[in-house]
Amino acid sequence: MKRRSWSLVIGMGLLVCSTAAQAADPSGYGQAGGEFDIKIPRVPAAELSAAKAEKPPFAPTPEILAEGKAIFLGRGTCFQCHGPEGKGDGGAAKVLPIQPRDFTNPKFNKVRTPGEMMWVLKNGSLGQSGKVPGTGMLPIVGQFLSVEDGWKVLLYERSLGGSR
Ligand code: HEC
Repeated sequence: MKRRSWSLVIGMGLLVCSTAAQAADPSGYGQAGGEFDIKIPRVPAAELSAAKAEKPPFAPTPEILAEGKAIFLGRGTCFQCHGPEGKGDGGAAKVLPIQPRDFTNPKFNKVRTPGEMMWVLKNGSLGQSGKVPGTGMLPIVGQFLSVEDGWKVLLYERSLGGSR
């Protein structure tokens, strides 16, 4: 039941996205194709330092990463947009106005902290302009994943970029 409602949310998100893609100023979406600028924080300035200060409650042990991977490929549905290998090339990515993050890009872990990723998992992303109404990255933690599961899956995502 929970899973079904999330599919509905994705469906609605995609609908919002495709409408937004036609209506919005393309400059809000950054360069066409590929992932969007990682140097621009997705957390609003007023909340950035608090988000950065948040740390994962556990270390990325092989067990935690295996659990994170199972969530990524399973009930988290992350793979549908971020791709089975986390490269941002999932089947649903084709219709999104903003491309999903490529977690295998090693630069990503250097500019983004786990706490900022958790903020996005809780709040969704408004893209690099902070004005995109539906990037496809919708709130997940608090909706159908627990905070603990959120940390596991984001630690798995970070492991794809070769660092923790
Ligand atoms: C419906 C498509 C979709 C699904 C499903 C999805 N994502 Fe995303 N995700 C995106 C898009 C698009 C972006 C890029 C948004 C941006 O550039 O601001 C993104 C960005 C992110 C970011 C932020 C990267 C940054 O720049 O800080 C994180 C973290 C993330 N996703 C994690 C997840 C996790 C974990 C899951 C599964 C539990 C998931 N996503 C499921 C589409 C999706």
